[in-house]
Amino acid sequence: MMRKLLLQASALRRLSNAHSLPSLLTSSSRRCSSSSSKTTSPQPPITSLEHLDDGPSQATSKISIDRSALYNPPEHSHEPSSDSELVKHLKGIIKFRGGPISVAEYMEEVLTNPKAGFYINRDVFGTEGDFITSPEVSQMFGEMIGVWVMCLWEQMGQPSKVNLVELGPGRGTLMADLLRGTSKFKNFIESLQIHMVECSPALQKLQHKNLKCVDEDSHNGNVDKRTISMLTGTPVSWHAALEQVPSGLPTIIIAHEFYDALPVHQFQRASRGWCEKMIDVAEDSPFRFVLSPQSTPAKLYLMERCKWAGAEEIAKLDQIEVCPKAIELTHTIAKRISSDGGGALVIDYGLDGIVSDSLQAIRKHKFVNILDNPGSADLSAYVDFASIRHSAEEASDDVIVHGPITQSQFLGSLGINFRVEALLKNCTDEQAESLRTGYWRLVGEGEAPFWEGPDDQVPIGMGTRYLVMAIVNKKQGIPISFQ
Ligand SMILES: C[S@@+](CC[C@H](N)C(=O)[O-])C[C@H]1O[C@@H](n2cnc3c(N)ncnc32)[C@H](O)[C@@H]1O
Repeated sequence: MMRKLLLQASALRRLSNAHSLPSLLTSSSRRCSSSSSKTTSPQPPITSLEHLDDGPSQATSKISIDRSALYNPPEHSHEPSSDSELVKHLKGIIKFRGGPISVAEYMEEVLTNPKAGFYINRDVFGTEGDFITSPEVSQMFGEMIGVWVMCLWEQMGQPSKVNLVELGPGRGTLMADLLRGTSKFKNFIESLQIHMVECSPALQKLQHKNLKCVDEDSHNGNVDKRTISMLTGTPVSWHAALEQVPSGLPTIIIAHEFYDALPVHQFQRASRGWCEKMIDVAEDSPFRFVLSPQSTPAKLYLMERCKWAGAEEIAKLDQIEVCPKAIELTHTIAKRISSDGGGALVIDYGLDGIVSDSLQAIRKHKFVNILDNPGSADLSAYVDFASIRHSAEEASDDVIVHGPITQSQFLGSLGINFRVEALLKNCTDEQAESLRTGYWRLVGEGEAPFWEGPDDQVPIGMGTRYLVMAIVNKKQGIPISFQ
């Protein structure tokens, strides 16, 4: 333990000299641009839960949609359509299926459709984009994650090779700050093989640029060309999914604001039991929500999720969100950490329990209707940290889950206070203001008390809204910040 703390202190000392202060952004953060974010919704009277007790065979064999009340679009129209490509595509799926699609399928298409998904073709981050995330708020965020990763590597016995995987790296800012911040720790840096898991070709390009990557020429007929980040001389490669990252090396995985982009199914309590919320075409706007009249296949996921909850927790809710992809991903992470050693860090906004009704859409820093102009706004949902814990524990006896703790506790324990003080000693007035507001956004709670600028630009602290969880191989002991 002493060694780890010393390493942390020495890392912080070196960080303060590691690099000069880049310009720091001050725009509003991704999830805090309005007070309208939802948590669990107000609760109506409780009805029976007997529908949750349906056996699997019943759930799968009763798939039907009552179409009597649904709008039937004309078979063919020669009217010119103002629908975007994605709207046409979604309508096509609904028509082909002969009925509405799940919220999860809608969300997946809207975010990651290979042609027109929100993330696929452009940079959506920062003041000019749709939202801002912690790594874009301040360099300190990526630096602190670097300290955590380096401490875990130390606990893992300083392996000479380690896979450092980032899921959904956005612009690549977190990884760039992590590398710059730890660049003086030669043994650590030389051990790294970086793997970026990113579905967006446009963002892959941006990550390549921001990590200052060069593609090595293949010599002597060697077809395995390497890409190297010139920040630290570290090899970097890109993958569409975690499963594609080569196994066999100790592995550290970072998932910052990745889980919240995974598609959720939504269920609503009705007089006939729990019904799935679906999306259908509408008459006066492209889409509308409808409720499934009977069980849908996704009811199995609801039953799976409710298995991990107490009756009182469910009884309080009339809406439930379930994210099967999060459960699947956690299984893959836990299995990988079990076989290869190492750990994963999950940072996101969410709850340590069942999430009720949190799906939201953000365009140009404002909350908008989820069904409005799909593909032009980000969709995200609260992360159910309890389900991550249960699925990791179910996947392997070799892993242990720590947290969630708040982002404020996490960054505080890594020494962000010392880092901000060090940076403040050597910066312009403008940079000092950016540093203070950035620091508040990362660790503060609510509106910044020191703010003297325009009311609509008051920095909102995310320190307690964002939660941090670690999934580690038991051999590694308790990771720093969770002790
Ligand atoms: C909300 S952004 C977070 C970006 C970054 N972690 C940050 O904090 O700035 C989500 C990221 O995950 C990527 N992404 C979303 N769904 C994905 C999927 N199914 N597979 C791979 N990448 C995905 C997006 O392209 C984007 O880079």
